[in-house]
Amino acid sequence: MAFPQTRMRRLRASAGLRGLVRETDVNAGQLVLPLFVTETEPTGARGEGQASSSSRQQIATMPGVERLSLSALVEEAREAAELGIAAVMLFGLPAEKDEHGSGAWEEAGVVQLATRAIKQALPELLVITDVCLCEYTSHGHCGVLREDETVDNDATLELLARTAVSHARAGADLVAPSDMMDGRVRAIREELDGEGFPQTPILAYSAKFASAFYGPFREAADSAPAFGDRRGYQMDPANGREAVREALLDVQEGADMVMVKPALAYGDLIREVKRATRLPVAAYNVSGEYAMVKAAAAAGYLDERATVLEILTSLRRAGADTIITYHAKDAAAWLTQPT
Ligand code: PBG
Repeated sequence: MAFPQTRMRRLRASAGLRGLVRETDVNAGQLVLPLFVTETEPTGARGEGQASSSSRQQIATMPGVERLSLSALVEEAREAAELGIAAVMLFGLPAEKDEHGSGAWEEAGVVQLATRAIKQALPELLVITDVCLCEYTSHGHCGVLREDETVDNDATLELLARTAVSHARAGADLVAPSDMMDGRVRAIREELDGEGFPQTPILAYSAKFASAFYGPFREAADSAPAFGDRRGYQMDPANGREAVREALLDVQEGADMVMVKPALAYGDLIREVKRATRLPVAAYNVSGEYAMVKAAAAAGYLDERATVLEILTSLRRAGADTIITYHAKDAAAWLTQPT
């Protein structure tokens, strides 16, 4: 039956009817808030940022996001927990960097201390740690370099595994490798199991693309490569079949959850990766995606609340079970206040 018997508008006529047939929901329990923690107390302008207080430093390219000292980090995590947000994801800014990124696996490294502090103050809030070397290496690449300055895949695996175990030991609830080395999920799984952490799940950044949308993050985390780019390890944005293959390999290696990153221009892959793996899928709504919305909203070009909730809904509709987003706190608050 078609028009005039069929009228699609019948079920759109009121808020009640629209709610009755709504296919997709978003709630705070599906959101993950990324946080940046600094080892040195941010005391004044550093890099592009402006100090807003002794323990919080604004990130110029990501309005509303700050680099946090340990104590400010716990405050921020507490606010997230009170809003019902499921998890925080930690990125560390160490005081010192070296060629191998050894700060990444130190027992008293910045992320390890941060994890302990949050788990002690807020045992129920999940802590996910980003496992990568780029914030800790002097050259800013995600692994160790060979003499020809390319990233040495196999030599990096052990360092990533060591880093993941140090996070688990500090109390991380999930570890999330973002380096894009081949074989890292297996290396991390083996090391976790061998060191007494068989229950720690791995959220693999499986389909992570070499994307221009990471620009603001690299500013925030001080992790831009000193030379070259990441196209030798992160994926080509043109490749969809390859993304599914990456995700399936991570499943074979023992991933518990897989991720597609960035999110907004990659909805097709959120859907395909979900279908192919049958694992829970996380979408990472990255820094550049956040910055675009913030800039447009600040200019008065977009309604921020409506835009953010539409974006999050669309990622859920594409198939994301979990969304990692810098909008998490705002979104969680908006979701409890009906329009
Ligand atoms: C570290 C890492 C990056 C992001 C998450 N983990 C940067 C990169 O790969 O260059 C990007 C997150 C964002 O843009 O919000 N490898």
